[in-house]
Amino acid sequence: MRVTVFGTGYVGLVTGACLADVGHHVLCMDIDEEKIARLKAGEIPIHEPGLDEIVRRTAGSGHLAFTTSHADAVAHADLQIVAVGTPPDESGAADLQYVLAVAGAIATHMQSPKIVVVKSTVPVGTCDKVAERLASVLATRGSPLGFDVVSNPEFLKEGAAVADFQRPDRIIVGTGSPHARTVMAELYEPFNRNHDRMLYMATRSSELTKYAANAMLATRISFINEIANLAERLGADIEQVRRGIGSDPRIGYHFIYPGVGYGGSCFPKDVQALTRTAREVGYRAGLIEAVEAVNNSQKTRLFDNIAAHFGGADALRGKTIALWGLAFKPNTDDMREAPSRVLMEALWKAGAKVRAFDPVAGGETLRLYGEEPGFELMQDKYSALDNADALAICTEWQQFRAPDFDEMALRLTQRVIFDGRNLYSPERLRDDGWTYYSIGRAP
Ligand code: UGA
Repeated sequence: MRVTVFGTGYVGLVTGACLADVGHHVLCMDIDEEKIARLKAGEIPIHEPGLDEIVRRTAGSGHLAFTTSHADAVAHADLQIVAVGTPPDESGAADLQYVLAVAGAIATHMQSPKIVVVKSTVPVGTCDKVAERLASVLATRGSPLGFDVVSNPEFLKEGAAVADFQRPDRIIVGTGSPHARTVMAELYEPFNRNHDRMLYMATRSSELTKYAANAMLATRISFINEIANLAERLGADIEQVRRGIGSDPRIGYHFIYPGVGYGGSCFPKDVQALTRTAREVGYRAGLIEAVEAVNNSQKTRLFDNIAAHFGGADALRGKTIALWGLAFKPNTDDMREAPSRVLMEALWKAGAKVRAFDPVAGGETLRLYGEEPGFELMQDKYSALDNADALAICTEWQQFRAPDFDEMALRLTQRVIFDGRNLYSPERLRDDGWTYYSIGRAP
């Protein structure tokens, strides 16, 4: 099949590459000329395991190509997938200008009927707006051409995006058009062989499913973080409680790891957007609003512990804190809404310095904070500790799980760790003379 994908961000590029890999002929379009030039040269702009290889292979075999031309993108295929960004606008609502601009471009250039597939995460009702935009631009052209609009949300996780795309739990197709359903079934047939993963539903149900899924997962995280904060005050150990509740199959173990709050490009944005959508229809989504509030305060937990340990925020002036992990989670260089940012910014404000190490997000952090005098990026985890007054951990990279504690003790001025991801055993560290703060376990 021939397919066009608009947008070469995480979702668009992974979608285009994985569809090309099963034999479809995919043209990826982006208005960012530099990005397309880099992709044409075989450079992948994001860090995503396995993606480079698939892009190289499919571009090499002619199944994947790139363009900045709307006209070429629209002419390439009857199936047009929209995977452009929907960043929050000032009010926290998803900004639809890029999605609607693509709809306008499709209607401007189309010479045959199209199926427009909305894969970007968009508020409920957006597919209707896309249909309106298509219809109005076609009307100004006096064109009788028809179209279908399909909601097809993406559920991939950064760091596991390729695997998630190739082995989806479900493929949601929201449309009332039988023709569009048939075409979508054909598109995804290579991913749907062993089990039927297609779920057909109404467009608005599909749109809401995406937000409901992310809000549910974010709720689990804020819930466990709240219980962790309670556990700490009650003398309980959240890791024991986590196992105790996770063993109930109705609860399960996923997404109940306490930490420094959820970050990334999806949960914070989608939770906010859902709150906003609810308000627009006159409903106050109290639970979802609380999920966000709990998360915002969780992101300040490490700083609060650090300040309390040293005798208040004022006492941090001139101190150096080593920081392991900058990315919002392991296996990505994504710094969007990363809890490390909240910590670093609070430390700088208090006059402290940060010596940081991250296996892949260092470059992205330099782009954001390279000018910050209190920031120093180190090339390995041990040198980040040299003469630092304590270690803070924001991301659970594998290489932080079993470090050489003796080596660490030699480099730090004091044996103090603020662990935002509960990587170590409190007993073991206490026995070795460390002061160890973690989440939901007494220091
Ligand atoms: C999330 C969802 O997991 C995907 O299903 C969804 O498709 C995606 O958003 C999206 O909407 O595009 P992602 O943002 O890549 O994926 O990252 P997650 O692995 O879900 O982690 C999100 C945040 O939650 C991270 O900061 C992580 O550290 C935190 N988290 C996760 C916890 O603090 N505790 C947990 O138990 C799980």
